[in-house]
Amino acid sequence: MTILTSHADVGGEAFARNREAYLALVERLRTRRRLAWAGGPPKARERHLARGKLLPRDRVEALLDPGSPFLEIGMLAGEGLYEGVPPGAGIITGIGLVSGRPCMIIANDATVKGGTYYGMTCKKHVRAQQIAWRHRLPCITLVDSGGAFLPDMANIFPDVGQFGSIFNNQVRMSAEGIPQIAVVMGPCTAGGAYIPALCDQVVIVKGQGYMYLGGPELTFAATGEQVDNETLGGALMHCSVSGVTDYLAEDDKHALAITRELVRDLGEPPAARWTKAPAKAPRYDPSEIYGLVSHDPKIPSDTREILARLVDDSRFQEFKPLYGDTLLTGFAHIQGHRIGILANQGVLFPESANKAAHFIDLCCQRDIPLLFLADVTGFMVGKAAEQAGIAKAGAKMITAMASANVPKYTILIGASYGAGYLAMCGRPFEPTAMFAWPNARSAIMGPEQAATVMALVRRQNLEKEGRSWSPEEEESFKAPVRKIYEDFQPADNFSAHLWVDGIIDPLETREVMGLLLELASHTPSLPTPFGVFRF
Ligand code: COA
Repeated sequence: MTILTSHADVGGEAFARNREAYLALVERLRTRRRLAWAGGPPKARERHLARGKLLPRDRVEALLDPGSPFLEIGMLAGEGLYEGVPPGAGIITGIGLVSGRPCMIIANDATVKGGTYYGMTCKKHVRAQQIAWRHRLPCITLVDSGGAFLPDMANIFPDVGQFGSIFNNQVRMSAEGIPQIAVVMGPCTAGGAYIPALCDQVVIVKGQGYMYLGGPELTFAATGEQVDNETLGGALMHCSVSGVTDYLAEDDKHALAITRELVRDLGEPPAARWTKAPAKAPRYDPSEIYGLVSHDPKIPSDTREILARLVDDSRFQEFKPLYGDTLLTGFAHIQGHRIGILANQGVLFPESANKAAHFIDLCCQRDIPLLFLADVTGFMVGKAAEQAGIAKAGAKMITAMASANVPKYTILIGASYGAGYLAMCGRPFEPTAMFAWPNARSAIMGPEQAATVMALVRRQNLEKEGRSWSPEEEESFKAPVRKIYEDFQPADNFSAHLWVDGIIDPLETREVMGLLLELASHTPSLPTPFGVFRF
């Protein structure tokens, strides 16, 4: 059967309970997105507007084509990590259409700590660049930033993935012919001035954009020279005297209109790598996913039912349906794009891991992107599994997955623990993009298992010393361990640390995947040399 048939009891009590719990999660996500959307505090926003500037989200909107989608990356990054800072890390990053061409937009939010870069801001900017690089997307940076957030030096200055990597990425992308455009819409000081200075083309707004390595105060302190903002780094000076910038704009709107013109002249967009079929809606209502995702971590969800609501026409050409059935593998289309799906339906056994390796090889041969839908508590343990070579089979799955050079996407749709998280193309394997549903949770192991393992070790050590351990003492030892894991595992924590590119409502999954696959269809295809497989 290639068309999935649903057997879900959508009128039942369990469905209604799951749905109610899920709607609360979605509402919570919306509330947090609204916070990120608003940006800095009202006072900072008012001051920004009083300076004649557009708010950062209005700038992005004015830059994009009317009605363009905007796939935001890391919208909730930094959430709760810095006091008084809204989710988003003071920067907006996302993909949208400018003059008909998909571009990566990177916009500082000057209403959040003057648009300065702290650790998470750097990480998010760098992540946006990586995504742009992989998809060969022109980068348009709307600069309005005080540069480095000085108290956070350790997280912005010395290492890879921090502020300096932004420059490195700009240069290397430019070298590969990936256009870099900056629009200077506010102050750019010190390191911040290098972001536009390292771009291919720079637009600057008169009376508003400034670029200098040291501002007037620093210049006076260092050299005794007294000089005003405009003379030192104003738009007119840079366009007519220093030549640091290329296009002079009257205001934000004008600057964004010039930028749209520049994108028009970027040359021929890359050709399509595969043909797209007409998109078809699933045969079952995707909103039923809310009632199918189990609200109780102890009761597993039926991934086959979820798949029937995610793929075009609910068509899933399953590979090896009778073998290794704790992992579903098969071909489908999403928004008309062909994709190979690996979706957990239980713990990974040697058979399911071997099947995964075989299926990934097929997809690489045929240049078909891979989608990992992770809902896994890990690999099977125990004598039977070990003697069946679970380590060898797991290694084979990981080798195939890590080697695969087709576009890879990961969505955490439920649990994602331990080596299961990794084998299902977790973040360390650098999937092209990775998202989590609001219900997702991930950690080395579950809170109860972690507490039990730690307690076992402790008990063994105490017994070696001839000491006893009462059940009460054991429980007071376990409780804080459990709490650490409970706080760690929610999708919120993963998005706050940018271990995923964002949290998406299950109902957004088809649209997000459609957009990503469309972008991937314009990237060059690469051969896959596999690492050595253990047979
Ligand atoms: N490091 C840490 N915090 C900074 C900062 C920096 N580089 N630049 C600004 N901030 C903070 C301010 O303390 C203020 O914090 P608060 O909201 O908690 O009061 C907030 O950002 C906004 O700054 P403010 O000066 O009130 O806003 P503004 O819009 O008038 O000016 C700047 C913004 C960026 C032009 C101005 O703050 C500035 O020139 N900063 C220094 C820039 C600099 O020298 N950077 C060099 C880095 S290598």
